[in-house]
Amino acid sequence: MPQQLLLHSPLDMHLHLRDGEMLQKIAKESAYSFCGAIVMPNLTTPVTTKEAVIAYKERIKEAIGEEKFEPYMTLFFKSDFDRTFLESLKAHITAIKLYPAGITTNSFGGVSGFDIQTLQKTLQAMSDLEIPLCIHGETNGFVMDREAEFVPIYERLATAFPKLKIIMEHITTKASVEALERHENLYATITLHHLLITLDDVAGGLLRPHLFCKPIAKHPKDREALLDVALKAHPKVMFGSDSAPHPKEAKETCGCAAGIFTAPIALQMLAELFEKHGSLEKLGDFVSGNAKRIYSITPLSKTVVLEKSPFRVREHYNGVVPMFANETIAYIIKEVING
Ligand code: DOR
Ligand code: ZN
Repeated sequence: MPQQLLLHSPLDMHLHLRDGEMLQKIAKESAYSFCGAIVMPNLTTPVTTKEAVIAYKERIKEAIGEEKFEPYMTLFFKSDFDRTFLESLKAHITAIKLYPAGITTNSFGGVSGFDIQTLQKTLQAMSDLEIPLCIHGETNGFVMDREAEFVPIYERLATAFPKLKIIMEHITTKASVEALERHENLYATITLHHLLITLDDVAGGLLRPHLFCKPIAKHPKDREALLDVALKAHPKVMFGSDSAPHPKEAKETCGCAAGIFTAPIALQMLAELFEKHGSLEKLGDFVSGNAKRIYSITPLSKTVVLEKSPFRVREHYNGVVPMFANETIAYIIKEVING
């Protein structure tokens, strides 16, 4: 009998589900294998009101149909959110996501300048109400340096608001890994793709648009630092796929959109990676245990049975090309048990 691996209540702590037609096309890919996900608010019109959060959650639930899956909703950070507003929202959201203005897809309404005084009112209210802050931490500097340049900003915020849980989203650098150790209230999500690729895979040979994302994949020494904490399921890191679907035409074009679609293969490839490094026993904490503790959530119960048997990844999912399209990977999802 082929080798099997059971994952209990896997969580994706950073996911783009989109809206409209794209939501219909891709939502089930995550809802099938994960029991829940932190859903990003960077829609074409960012999610900034209670009504928008509630309505978006409804649309997600409709799109996932019968699947047992909890969308953990987020709000798009604005520096004028006040305490009363956040109090009224607390029951409907799990976190607030802050984007520097213009740094990635649909982030033009984000924050420009990280002056503590300007952010004080909202961040203090979030801290008091225990609403975690997720940040896309990149400056608008040179593309390879953007995340490292943002680390001092993370540190300033972590020091100014010591009770606020700050999640450094999709970290890609050794500098971010090191910052985790310096501040009790800093945490991080790590994607599958940043554990697997470096800039060489994106642009070292022929250009690979399906591996283009923000933050861009970095240097081998950065990937090593990410692998080190992920493979031991360091208590401050969690899996967040940052699976970000774009239509094939928007990727295979001059002016390629940033984002890698990993939802359909994420757990299978994580199993392959953790096995390769002899760390399979840590995978459960990386994809579920740490997130439960950091976010204080009790996820829906779902058991994913992975089996070691070769599987050829589809060329596309409703016109969205996944990572490893047409390649053979080592694990398949054999069964998903609701319970
Ligand atoms: O590559 C990315 N794509 N990075 C992000 O931060 C956003 C995402 C998207 O929404 O497409
Ligand atoms: Zn993202």
